[in-house]
Amino acid sequence: MRDAEPVTIRLSEYAPPAYQIDEIALVFSLEPEATLVAARSHVRRSGVAPAPLVLNGERLELQSIAIDGAPLTTDQYREEPGKLIILDPPPEFRLDIVTRINPAGNTHLEGLYMSGGRFCTQCEAEGFRAITYALDRPDVLARYAVRIEANKAAYPTLLANGNLTESGEFDGDRHFAVWVDPHPKPSYLFALCAGKYESIHDSFTTKSGRNVALGIYVDPGDSERARYAMDALKRSMQWDEQVFQREYDLDVFNIVAVRDFNFGAMENKGLNIFNSSLILADAETATDADFEAIEAVVGHEYFHNWTGNRITCRDWFQLCLKEGLTVYREQEFSADQRSRPTQRIKDVKRLRGRQFSEDAGPLAHPVRPSSYQKIDNFYTATVYEKGGEVIRMLKRVIGAEAFERGMQLYFERRDGTASTVEDFVACFEEASGKSLKDFMGWYEQAGTPSLTVRGTYDAAARTYTLKLSQRTAPTPGQPTKQALPIPLQIGFIAKDGAIIASKLEGDTISRVEHKLVITGEETTLKFSDVLEPPIPAVLRGFSAPVTLDDDLTIDERLAQMAHDPDPFTRWEAGQSIARAIMLGEAPNAAPALATALGRELDRAQEDPAFAALALRLPDLNELLLTAQKPDPEVLFAAREALRRTVATTLRDKLTPLATAPSETPFSPGADAAGRRSLKAAALDMLSSLGAEQGDAFLEVFDTARSMTEGAAALEALGASGSDAFDAALARFYERWKANPLVIDKWFAIQASSPRADALARAERLRAHPDFNLKNPNRVRALAAAFAMRNPRVFHSSDGGGYRFLASLVEQIDPLNPALAARLLTPFESWKRFDAPRQSHARAALEQLAALTNLSKNTREMVERTLA
Ligand code: TRP
Ligand code: ZN
Repeated sequence: MRDAEPVTIRLSEYAPPAYQIDEIALVFSLEPEATLVAARSHVRRSGVAPAPLVLNGERLELQSIAIDGAPLTTDQYREEPGKLIILDPPPEFRLDIVTRINPAGNTHLEGLYMSGGRFCTQCEAEGFRAITYALDRPDVLARYAVRIEANKAAYPTLLANGNLTESGEFDGDRHFAVWVDPHPKPSYLFALCAGKYESIHDSFTTKSGRNVALGIYVDPGDSERARYAMDALKRSMQWDEQVFQREYDLDVFNIVAVRDFNFGAMENKGLNIFNSSLILADAETATDADFEAIEAVVGHEYFHNWTGNRITCRDWFQLCLKEGLTVYREQEFSADQRSRPTQRIKDVKRLRGRQFSEDAGPLAHPVRPSSYQKIDNFYTATVYEKGGEVIRMLKRVIGAEAFERGMQLYFERRDGTASTVEDFVACFEEASGKSLKDFMGWYEQAGTPSLTVRGTYDAAARTYTLKLSQRTAPTPGQPTKQALPIPLQIGFIAKDGAIIASKLEGDTISRVEHKLVITGEETTLKFSDVLEPPIPAVLRGFSAPVTLDDDLTIDERLAQMAHDPDPFTRWEAGQSIARAIMLGEAPNAAPALATALGRELDRAQEDPAFAALALRLPDLNELLLTAQKPDPEVLFAAREALRRTVATTLRDKLTPLATAPSETPFSPGADAAGRRSLKAAALDMLSSLGAEQGDAFLEVFDTARSMTEGAAALEALGASGSDAFDAALARFYERWKANPLVIDKWFAIQASSPRADALARAERLRAHPDFNLKNPNRVRALAAAFAMRNPRVFHSSDGGGYRFLASLVEQIDPLNPALAARLLTPFESWKRFDAPRQSHARAALEQLAALTNLSKNTREMVERTLA
């Protein structure tokens, strides 16, 4: 059967389903190439008038169909691309459908597929329709009972959502298990896994005394590396009870790790499925960033149990309802588990790196989009990261207490429903007594507001006036923009660092910090009792996802770096100076920045993770986004020049940090990780000094006792241009060739290394026997690492980088459309570059567009990018 033709789905055209299904009983007879799925549904018409029942289905072979036990005749139903239509069904009936599917041949990794000889499913967003004909939409909630049958020797473990109610053997070599999930759920949360696993088990007792059996299932041999994930899971469960009063609601919580997976992880009810890269970790094979990501994503998927599963989305336009809110919850969890200031800076870096660039290009869309062709293409930084920022701002706008009341009201009122953003926001209007009508603009308007701030001090009157104006550039489909409510957190310091209190007009007392929300396009804020000329910080804590244009001098920023009480502002001051230097706006400031960074190193013992972040200068992608007419070669050179100045100035401080021996025993905790991150940042800074550093880096590489340090040394070897890079890579490969997650790093480190031969290297990697188009992690280790982390080479002036990515996309699209489409995101910046680069990018994209068999996913991305 053919796929359905591309159609644009619009939020404005939402209509409730004509039928509901309250109960589904599924029987899977698992065979790799021919699995039979028998689905028995209890179907009920929603309205009074007769209506056809339109079921979704993709890549299914229909075996039989019956209503209330009577097989349908061919005039009673019709098969169309993507659909099965039952023409005139009764108002309430039992529907029996048997389909046949081919999990072993499923390279889309959507629906039921096989990974490493094991069965697994991925149903979000619209994968359930590749398992059986279904009302595959999130506003149809059913109770599922699932019977799995399989060969016992080949597939000894059989898992699905909910609780295990029955199991046994039959027919000699086969066995079965029945899993019943008492919680009604949409089809996208269905999951099944079957195969040979190794597992670890633990338990958690909820605050009301429910004992929950916890299991993590991994490939045989990997179970010791799942311990950290289990620990993170228990901490997540406890944290959600403490902070959001949310308890778990089943007797079992299982996680399965899968090697071939399109995304990070999936929150299926009671049976989360994870990319193995976000479960498996130990000191030798995983970096601290991996441990951090495991903790965050285990938390994220667990938190979905309330924000996503018990309260789900009415339609896919509401995706941010679950994703933005869950990102926010995940970030708060990480902040509480580790360091709140460091977490905030990392979250801002990620937002700026991924979302600001999206907002600035042809793929810009609101946190709640209003139309799509393939919803897979809208699992974006905007929906996730900006969606999280919107929740954070909501808390600032109505205050922490009203926010907490609103959250509890949301959990009570919307439990068990498929909800909208409006339903969510209504809870906060009620809890706060404030209108959030203007705030809705954050959900509906694409683009990053730019906030311009100018201050004037009147020494005689001791007043300070801040004039603020906001403006958002047009985005596709949204030529005009409205002003949005922007929460600010403002504080002043003097040149010597003294904190300056002040009284904001309309306020009753003097304060050291002002929290307020500005609304219109132009705002004037008047502060009195200002005893000294102030250095203003208006966006402390990065209180809103905006770009800030202030006119602070380098000296003022240096004072902020040294003295502002807000860590985000201190970090941002250093970043701003670095940006100004690299963009040619402050050519003489490099020595002062180097000295200031030296002071960060002097006080690094207090908070090494912060010093490490300060030492990492804005990356090339950030510069390419900020510059008016970006030239990748010029900006790369400017960045390297500044790095060399800093490295030369601070060499005596950096070298001992970079070569400090590994701490033993290894601890994955935030403190030890912070010290290692400083070592890695020092190595990175010293790599700007060139190949002469090679021997020192090789020594660090050879003596490293953790992957964090080993990988950092290898990256430094790469960036320094040292010849020892290849020898070290060869040793690394030999040591780790049996571990796919580590070999992913081997690919990614090379693909992202900014060496002159990077494109040739990427081509060689593509031809390497370990490169595998069917494994998304391996594909991303080459393609995404190259296109996103090696911007100088990706944007090379001869167009070679563009052609490389487009040709990989062309090769992957027939196998895995969702993956292929997502790989195209680095093209989002193409219109910002000079004419020759633009014409190379356009040619590469147009060549894709000309392919007649391109998937809906990739076609939508290509067309939006070109538009
Ligand atoms: N809902 C998942 C999450 O954010 C992500 C997800 C969406 C996903 N679509 C997917 C995961 C497809 C795997 C494959 O946690
Ligand atoms: Zn999520």
